[in-house]
Amino acid sequence: MAAAPRPGRRGRGRAGGGRVPVNPRSRLRRLAQAPRPGLKVLGQSWRSDRAGTAQVIVTSLVVGVLPACQVTLTAAFATALLRAAGSSRPQAGDILFYLGLLALLGLGSQVLILLQSRAMQRCQSRLSAHLSDEIISRAGRFTLSQVEDPKIQDSLQRAVREVGFRPGMLLSQLVQTVTQVVAFGSVGAILWTLDYRVALLAVLAPVPTVVAQILQGKRAHALEHGRSEERRRLTYWQHLASQPDSMKEVLAFRLAPVVLTHHRKLLAGIVGADLRLANRNFRLAIPMVVLTAALTVSAQATAILAGTDARHVAGLLAVIQAIGMLQSSAQMLYGALSGMYVNQLFLRNVNEFLAIEHTPLPEGELAFPEEISAGVEFRDVSFSYPGSGRHALENVSFTLKPGQVTAVVGLNGAGKSTLGKLLGRLYEPTGGSIVVDGVPLADFRLDSLRDRVSYVFQNYVQYQLSVGENISLGLVHEADRAAGRVEAAAREVGMHEHIAALPQGYGTQAGKLFTGGVEFSGGQWQRLAIARSMVRSASVRVMDEPTAALDTITEAELLDTLTTATAGRVSLLIAHRFSSVLRADRVLVFDRGRLVEDGDHQELMGLGGLYARMYEAQTAGHEPAAGAATGAR
Ligand SMILES: Nc1ncnc2c1ncn2[C@@H]1O[C@H](COP(=O)(O)OP(=O)(O)OP(=O)(O)O)[C@@H](O)[C@H]1O
Ligand SMILES: [Mg+2]
Repeated sequence: MAAAPRPGRRGRGRAGGGRVPVNPRSRLRRLAQAPRPGLKVLGQSWRSDRAGTAQVIVTSLVVGVLPACQVTLTAAFATALLRAAGSSRPQAGDILFYLGLLALLGLGSQVLILLQSRAMQRCQSRLSAHLSDEIISRAGRFTLSQVEDPKIQDSLQRAVREVGFRPGMLLSQLVQTVTQVVAFGSVGAILWTLDYRVALLAVLAPVPTVVAQILQGKRAHALEHGRSEERRRLTYWQHLASQPDSMKEVLAFRLAPVVLTHHRKLLAGIVGADLRLANRNFRLAIPMVVLTAALTVSAQATAILAGTDARHVAGLLAVIQAIGMLQSSAQMLYGALSGMYVNQLFLRNVNEFLAIEHTPLPEGELAFPEEISAGVEFRDVSFSYPGSGRHALENVSFTLKPGQVTAVVGLNGAGKSTLGKLLGRLYEPTGGSIVVDGVPLADFRLDSLRDRVSYVFQNYVQYQLSVGENISLGLVHEADRAAGRVEAAAREVGMHEHIAALPQGYGTQAGKLFTGGVEFSGGQWQRLAIARSMVRSASVRVMDEPTAALDTITEAELLDTLTTATAGRVSLLIAHRFSSVLRADRVLVFDRGRLVEDGDHQELMGLGGLYARMYEAQTAGHEPAAGAATGAR
């Protein structure tokens, strides 16, 4: 995909190609406002580390006055030298005194700079950790629909990329600004009293270079902002080529050339745009650098021409030193300001992400029942995924009774998993309502509901944590988190003996991602997922294809546990295999989002409809192709 230049936000700035629309006044205004996000970052740093931030501020102020001290001391030293040269009496005392002071000042500066840098590193590290924490905690509050939104994914990716170093840079540039404002002000005042023309030229000299830096920063930001999705695609291909879960297909299907082609194409686009930007930046920088050099030379020439008089030799020394200091301080000040301006553009990515509305699900005050008495009722429920024009579920009504296991069957894409997800409010119905014992789901506290609805997902997670944690994660919000519960669940899914024989038993690292990890088979992972779900004190249990990866003997052993009806509990078993379905008390048959049949096995067979066709196809050794029963989806 070509990294074609795209307009930046609100059409300002262009990446790679076209010209940046110029509006000098608003640019100046934004430059003047550059310290504002810096101050915000300072506030965040203060909250994350008060002592460190205080050290940074104090050392910055002190470091700022050092150049003025040095200019003053140099002038005094030069005067003492001249006095000694013109006098018949020895003046060694004075000279040694100033020499000593200059040496002390040099040493003091070095120590102060070291202290400042230590405090800065500490603050930067804590600040970045503080903001990373905020990003991850915000990400965890999104709804599933939001997380599935590619725009939110782009924003998250940008925020994560910038949070590692931008806030720290901004903080360091703010500190630099404070230091240099003090240095600039004090040395500038001295120079102004010696020769105001030189002071003016020295202050103006770095301006062109800084303007170039700002424009370059803006362009870099516009370029990065416009190619967030491209970067995510690149990461995706890198993931495919490097992670064990995808590598097996990459190797078996010999997909390496395909991966490489896409990777190279994306990289070529990215590198091409980078190079175009580098060339534009180079063309911009050349005249600016020449201008800066010309102004610097003018300042020095003016000082020398004005100070050729022998009486002003000491003053000239001070002026020359002051020019150098003022210029470097001006350069650093402008550099820090422009850097802050550029970094705050990038830091907006973090703030933009943090500002995304969470639209928290409305929730009530009620605790979800520990035991269900009347049942879970779907009342005319419809649901469409965000951005999809189609109904995944359409006007569905039924009641799941407690003390029963209800199976849900249907062809691929019929809406079975979607139905399960609505129960835990992972998605909200777009029509109708779901009520538990007569109370709408939204009237329960969300945490209480989530604790009582337990899942074995169709695509369960294989946690690269310890084997024990793969089960005990189901218990994190339970009052009783005894290890005995984990072991009991492992026994129920027939995994205890296997786990006990592992090198560190339940503490063994699961999966091969980290050192010392032990890999499990697909069915063993699925059994851990079942144990994680079973260990919870749930009153609604959703099992989405829980035995799909199990061998028939294990499945037969586990089905007793999975299909044992429990009083007060609603169990929903989504299944393709009739070995599971036949154990259910009742079966709901879905077709293209609609509930088309409802009854027990005998009743449904008697109907001779979709269920009977699916059953016959499976027992005859093959399933109908998707859509074959009632038309393609
Ligand atoms: N996250 C999603 N975003 C958008 N559409 C989705 C999403 N998940 C599922 N769908 C769509 O919703 C419909 C129902 O999907 P669902 O996963 O509920 O089917 P299913 O009955 O569980 O199928 P299967 O037997 O294959 O597991 C499908 O058309 C699917 O394309
Ligand atoms: Mg499914």
